[in-house]
Amino acid sequence: MTISYRTVLRADLPTLLAIEAELYPVDAWSLDIFESEFDGIPDTRYYVVAEGKEIVGYAGLFSPLTGEVADIQTMTVVKSEQGKGIGKALLKLLLIEALRREAPDVLLEVREDNASAIGLYQSAGFEEISRRKNYYAPGIHAIIMAAPSHLLSEWVTR
Ligand SMILES: CC(C)(COP(=O)(O)OP(=O)(O)OC[C@H]1O[C@@H](n2cnc3c(N)ncnc32)[C@H](O)[C@@H]1OP(=O)(O)O)[C@@H](O)C(=O)NCCC(=O)NCCS
Repeated sequence: MTISYRTVLRADLPTLLAIEAELYPVDAWSLDIFESEFDGIPDTRYYVVAEGKEIVGYAGLFSPLTGEVADIQTMTVVKSEQGKGIGKALLKLLLIEALRREAPDVLLEVREDNASAIGLYQSAGFEEISRRKNYYAPGIHAIIMAAPSHLLSEWVTR
């Protein structure tokens, strides 16, 4: 099956909501959150990855076109396709876009117990800069990670 990457369409929303509900039982994004993110275009950019016609992952970036710090908003690969390099490819797409917009640094939040996501972000050059207690839900804390663009630009070309 061919894997393809493209920018998101509003028609993808039902699929994204279904994947959210499955993968984030505690803090799934709602339709309103997705719509406000899509309303934020061009400051936001969302990609989906599809296997044939089936969406198997998506990722989103907030990066104003003014050289400001960028944020990774979300990054998700369906369970059956995890560990095959799709997350890495999606992260590269987001970072290439942030670098094109001359973001000096990129930030993100990740659950402190999410070893695979933290491993992916560390491999790209992200480091912990602080923590937020109860960020996702009571008792579910976030690590804030950041990376400077010079490190990221080296990683995306690897
Ligand atoms: C986190 C997630 C996006 C990673 O996507 P993926 O397609 O599974 O990851 P990849 O196969 O591209 O792996 C990329 C890198 O992640 C790291 N990684 C992956 N699984 C890991 C694990 N269990 N432990 C440590 N590092 C891991 C490795 O550095 C790996 O690179 P390598 O294979 O060259 O060693 C995916 O697992 C996912 O959607 N999880 C559920 C939702 C989620 O937690 N999203 C993150 C929100 S911040």
